[in-house]
Amino acid sequence: MAADEQYQIHLQQLKHKAPGFVETIYALGNGHLGVRASNPLQGNSPAYPGNPGLYVNGFYDLSPITYGESYFGYARNNQTICELPDPRYLIFSVDGVRSDETPYQIEMVDKTWDMASGLLLETFHVTTPTAKKFALTMESFASQAERHIYVVRYDVRALNFSGPLTLIKRHAYVNQQIPRDNADVRRAQRGNQLTQTYLHTAVPTMQLATQKSQLGLLVTMEYLGSDPRVQLNADADVPNYEIALDLTPERSAQFTFGYSVGEIHNLLAFKLNQARYLEKDLARLNDESFTSLFEASAARTKQFWQDSDVLIEGDPILQKGIRFNLYHLYQAAGRDHRTDIPAKGLTGSGYEGHYFWDTEMYMLPFFIYTQPQIAKALLGYRYATLPAAGQRAREMAIKSGVLFPWRTINGEEASAYFPAGTAQVHINADIAYATDQYIRATGDTDFLQNAGFELILETARFWIAYGNYAKHGPQAGHFVINRVTGPDEYTALIDNNYYTNRMAQQNLRLAVKYAAELRKLAPEKLTSLAVTEEELGAFKQAAAKMYLPYDQKQQLKLQDDNALNRPRFDIKNEPATNFPLLLHYHPLVLYRYQVNKQADTLMSDFLFPVDQDEAQLRRDYNYYEGITTHDSSLSRAIFSILANRIHEPAKAQAYFLDTALTDLTDLQGNSEDGIHAANMGGSWLSLVYGFAGMHYGNAGLTFVPQLPTGWLRLAFKIKYRGRQIQIDIHQNNATFTLLSGEPFTVYCGQAPCALSQQMPVTVKLNNA
Ligand code: BGC
Repeated sequence: MAADEQYQIHLQQLKHKAPGFVETIYALGNGHLGVRASNPLQGNSPAYPGNPGLYVNGFYDLSPITYGESYFGYARNNQTICELPDPRYLIFSVDGVRSDETPYQIEMVDKTWDMASGLLLETFHVTTPTAKKFALTMESFASQAERHIYVVRYDVRALNFSGPLTLIKRHAYVNQQIPRDNADVRRAQRGNQLTQTYLHTAVPTMQLATQKSQLGLLVTMEYLGSDPRVQLNADADVPNYEIALDLTPERSAQFTFGYSVGEIHNLLAFKLNQARYLEKDLARLNDESFTSLFEASAARTKQFWQDSDVLIEGDPILQKGIRFNLYHLYQAAGRDHRTDIPAKGLTGSGYEGHYFWDTEMYMLPFFIYTQPQIAKALLGYRYATLPAAGQRAREMAIKSGVLFPWRTINGEEASAYFPAGTAQVHINADIAYATDQYIRATGDTDFLQNAGFELILETARFWIAYGNYAKHGPQAGHFVINRVTGPDEYTALIDNNYYTNRMAQQNLRLAVKYAAELRKLAPEKLTSLAVTEEELGAFKQAAAKMYLPYDQKQQLKLQDDNALNRPRFDIKNEPATNFPLLLHYHPLVLYRYQVNKQADTLMSDFLFPVDQDEAQLRRDYNYYEGITTHDSSLSRAIFSILANRIHEPAKAQAYFLDTALTDLTDLQGNSEDGIHAANMGGSWLSLVYGFAGMHYGNAGLTFVPQLPTGWLRLAFKIKYRGRQIQIDIHQNNATFTLLSGEPFTVYCGQAPCALSQQMPVTVKLNNA
């Protein structure tokens, strides 16, 4: 793929943008590590208004949650992703003045992120306290080929002087004093107490250990080159490289440093095996150079785009916006079956680096259909935490099955506010739903047998124990699920949340369906998991009798049993400065009103398209749109998709615009805390499930394309059961091409398109 402006992020007027925002936008990552695009001279200095640092997926510390009144079963520990020393950090010394002692003036001049290759190119202009000016250019990337590697190349050029300048490259200190703004609950509320020690090894190595979670990690830093001016001071208190230069404006000097960020180990194993781990970390950079490492990484990135790119012709800004989102998703996703995707990716400490339902419901589809091996790794993380989810269910007095945590890193519940946290038990059904989507799209029966079925079964078992058959009122005889919180966090602890019940119903049905499949594939699995006919019968019955609240008079799906008995919150007359409402009202105020933070019942309409006809969907849409604030960035994508389904193209387009550009335009005002990863996944959903209308219809995989006005083309690829299919939509027609794999029929609206390789099928669109 040629270097193409359409793959480049080049924000104008960087000087006027908040450093934290710029750090997030240009953050680099590869699922294992993430590096914010900090001011490289500031390290983790508390005086700097940004928030520099390195994040390693799954490297977190614990601290006890202090409650005024702590009840049984409340989550015990905060889990907080660690902010690690900034690998971009560099010290200068000119005229005897060091930049880490006396601040140099540094002006961000330019940043270009070429997402086609993954390279970030930055220029800074630096003025020393003695008025010497020089340009610092940085080229950096997080390797997509070797997830432990991060590389940075510095280029220094004098601008107004000739003379000596010394560069010192060493690991930065951890800043444990980062000030916190406790007024915004979405921000990380605490720093970490890390132990940072330096090892006197062949290259500067830092050993990081957490206090309570007892995790250890090695980070090595190696000069990659042979310039004799680079001196290693291995025995200094803080081992470093020192580079004494004699600069002239004509001659620049370049130096490359490779970082190897090791695996996370528990501290005991870490101490016992440190030498072996170190050897492994160092070996990764052996005989490597900037070019060799970059070529390997760029080749992998190219492959990513080949499978995952989306073309939007006719709107260059959206084209860029969507690529920005897709690449950030790729950078954020854990790939080792032990880590997931934090809500902020690896770009910030917002939400403490926790994993939520965001992965399964918003981000996983993109990976399932374009990078299925990553989707499998992400579900693998859930499978790895199944035992913890089992323990949690027991703690919650649920005798069988599992309860996954609402927010977590290590698999234990970390939500200190249970009404809008732990009570979102729909997370269980979300994981089951996503597991089914993965198996359906890939046909991966190995995964079904080795992990998928257990995930679906154990989550199904939970519902039978959590819910019950009602004896009174309109619910009598039905299976009900009381006291839950649905996706909408402005309505908590309700009975029969439509979304939760519909998802639980699906979860139960999936367990029955896959048990039947396993009976043929691996009957011993059913025996080992103690699945009985009686249990499957109970699943079937509860699903059939599941209560789904509905108002006959208004012909409306109800968010919960009591939804219409609450007064409507006057959203229209609320001052704009009061949004998001969560920062201005006590939860109990919001809970008493009909006011939604995000799509809830509509989320169910989105996920189960064949449940309702268009008239029903339109009624649901109009009603819920009127009470939704979109205070959560997870909301607009769903409204965009459903607007397409009810043929409201202007709305679909407007909601999509906000979704696609949420972080680039700082729509939520908090991008400095990290990207809104679920929303980024939502932008792919809006394109593929919305404008291309992809869904499982009654006949099979179906598309209902509708291009927004002004767009000339929307094109993307999906993988489906060993095939790759390209979908190419224009205003008047849509073309389906089977790029690889066995012949297959997709549906465009009602029209079957029998696909075989080299035989694209074009369908004329009615909306032409
Ligand atoms: C949303 C949740 C989401 C969480 C993390 C909250 O604001 O309401 O649905 O899981 O953010 O992104």
